[in-house]
Formats: sequence, C-alpha cells, structure tokens
Amino acid sequence: MMNPNAGFGTKAIHAGNVKDQQYGALTTPIYQTSTFVFDTCEQGGRRFAGEEGGHIYTRLGNPTTDVLERKVAALECGEACVATASGMGAISSALWTIAGAGKHIVADATLYGCTFALLNHGMTRYGVEVDFIDTSDLGAVKAALKENTCCVYLETPANPNLKITDIAAVAEIVHAYNPEIKVVCDNTFASPALQNPLKLGADVVVHSATKYLNGHGDVIAGFVVGDAAFCTQVRMFGLKDMTGAVMDPFCSFLILRGLKTMELRMARHCESAEKIAAYLDAHDKVETVYYPGLANHPGHDIAARQMSGFGGMVSFEVKGGRAAGAKLLNSMKMIAVAVSLGDAETLIEHPASMTHSTYSEEELAASGIGAGLIRLSVGLENVEDIIADLEQGLAQL
Ligand SMILES: Cc1ncc(COP(=O)(O)O)c(C=O)c1O
Repeated sequence: MMNPNAGFGTKAIHAGNVKDQQYGALTTPIYQTSTFVFDTCEQGGRRFAGEEGGHIYTRLGNPTTDVLERKVAALECGEACVATASGMGAISSALWTIAGAGKHIVADATLYGCTFALLNHGMTRYGVEVDFIDTSDLGAVKAALKENTCCVYLETPANPNLKITDIAAVAEIVHAYNPEIKVVCDNTFASPALQNPLKLGADVVVHSATKYLNGHGDVIAGFVVGDAAFCTQVRMFGLKDMTGAVMDPFCSFLILRGLKTMELRMARHCESAEKIAAYLDAHDKVETVYYPGLANHPGHDIAARQMSGFGGMVSFEVKGGRAAGAKLLNSMKMIAVAVSLGDAETLIEHPASMTHSTYSEEELAASGIGAGLIRLSVGLENVEDIIADLEQGLAQL
C-alpha cells in the first residue's frame, strides 16, 4: 500500500502499481488485447452485470490502463480517473456525461481552440446552452449561473494567453449557488506536478496527456479525474457509449514510462521558462510577455497561491504585430514551429492561425488572444541554447 503522503515523484513512480505475480516484471506489462476470456457463460454475465470484478473488453478497462488511471488519480488527488484516447476525448466524454439538451454550461472565453469549438459549434447543435465569460472576473461567474447550469468550465493557466483564474474562489461561488454544478478545470498547462484543482474545490479535472503527463511528444491521450461515482458515469456512458475515445494499452505504457521523470521534467520546464520570460520581458523588440511568474502578470498573486511553479509555457507579442511574429517563427533554427506543448523539444506557434483558428477574429479579440500572439512551449534543452535561438530570430526583426 502506497503512503498517501508520499511526494509527487514517488507517487509518479509507485502509485497504483501491481506486483507482477507471473514473472515479477519491474515495469507494468502491456496487455495489448481487445478482449478477455471468461471461464464460463455465467461468469461473463456476472461481469456485465457488475456482480463480479475482472476485465471484459478494453473499451471498458484494461490492466495496463488501470495502473495508469490509479497513478494519475493519485497525482491529481482524486478518487478515480478515466484514461481516454486524447484530451478532446477526455473533455467530450466528461461534458457529454454532465450536459444534455436543455442544460446550460458557463465556460471561460479563453480555451484551447477545439474545446471552444466543441462548446460553441458542437454541443450547442444538440440543445446545450453555452455562455462564454471571463472566469477571472468573479462577479461575471456569479451573474452567469442559472437554474439549468450544470457545469462551469475553465482552463488555468489558459491556452494560449496564460490567463489565471482563482479556482477556489470560482468553486466557492458556484457551489454556494448550487452544489450539483460541476466545476471542471482543464489542468493541462499546469500539470498535476504544479497544481491540483480538486484540492482547491473543483469537481473534475481534465487533461490532454499528450502534453506534460506523457512529456515526450509521441502519444495523443487524455484523462478525466474526479470522484469515483462521476468517473464510473464517464466510463460507462460518456466514454463507452458517447465518444468511444478509449486509450490504447501501448499508449498507457508510454505514459507510465513518461510519468517516472515528470517531477524532474517539470522543474526544468519551469526553471527555463522563468529565465526566458525574464529575457523576453527585457528585450526591446518584444511588446508584451504573458507569463504568470512575472510580477507584472495580472494573475501573478493567484498563481503564486494555487500553483507550486509557474509552468513551462510563455506567450508574447513582438513589436510589429502579426507579420513580425511570423518572421520570428520562420527564422527559428533549433526551436520547432509546431503546435502541441510539454515536450522535450521547444515548440513555437501562432495561436490565431493554428491552435485557435476555430475562433473568428472577433472571438479572438473578445477572448484576449492577440492576432500577433506567439506561444512558446519551453522544452528541456539547455536554456542558453533556447535563448540563443530566440536572440538570433529577434535580431532579424
Ligand atoms: C489546454 C488543452 N486542452 C485540451 C487539448 C486537447 O488535447 P488533445 O490534443 O490531446 O486532444 C489541448 C491540445 O492542445 C490543450 O492545449
């Protein structure tokens, strides 16, 4: 039994593991199987009826994925976790479990582009009402709640402008209005190594595990974390029936492998990002830097309270706007021009034309996503080399 007070690094390595009784394998074996054989017809019936444990079919659960789910639940301080085939699989499985026709969702206006599209263009087609607000404005949160509100959805730090929302304050307002409303927080940018929304009062955490949780840029994956009853609903309805977005056992294995070094990786991401944010902030070709670790960031004090580090994402605008930003991206020598984040490689992208191209120009402006905003995912290279690449690029502007 794992010590519940063990540190993050220890939990990332040991929590949820099962001793391999057959061969004594140190690492979790990959059970690359779609189905599981029943001893008898009656046993199959009992498993389907939930009267007996044991596996049935990998869409409902798999031994490799079970270990990963227990581990991520422990890292997020949740009772249970459901692994999914992508971050969008996690978000849609969770939201289709919570919402339906006639229900109302309050969402922050600054979201990952496809989450915005799911809410704004997708769920509204099926009778779900969605209002977009600024959840960092607590008055706006209070004013947005209605009798049919079932969910308040937010990201903090938000993709792509790193806006910070006070999770505890939002949860308090929402639950005082109606304790049944689920506060759902996308914790992808912070990762559980830096922030645990459930401990701050959120009900559900969703992740794109494609990012820091895996950390190596070689899988697409997601998680939903929450209480056991909710996660059972997600598994048996949102995931099994609505989305079918099931994690593959080989993917589970790769994330188990990536998690072993997560604490070390996150410390390096944060340390380098802090240096890069300070470097950009002092650069005369840079207009604005968005990094919660900078004292001039409007959410700095809240971030310092609810996060144990400021993360590895830095966004900024250069003087000369969108055209100058494009020139900077095109001049990178080591840094890759690519979407995604949380990888060993430093990645740079232009949200308005890439990750957030699901927003119209007006929606981008209303959400505080500048047309020239550049998003940098600070990787694990030596920070001097990342800065040198930015320096030679900025020198060309
Ligand atoms: C904050 C955030 N949430 C969710 C997603 C979606 O995750 P995936 O690409 O794994 O489906 C992303 C992807 O970039 C993201 O940045």
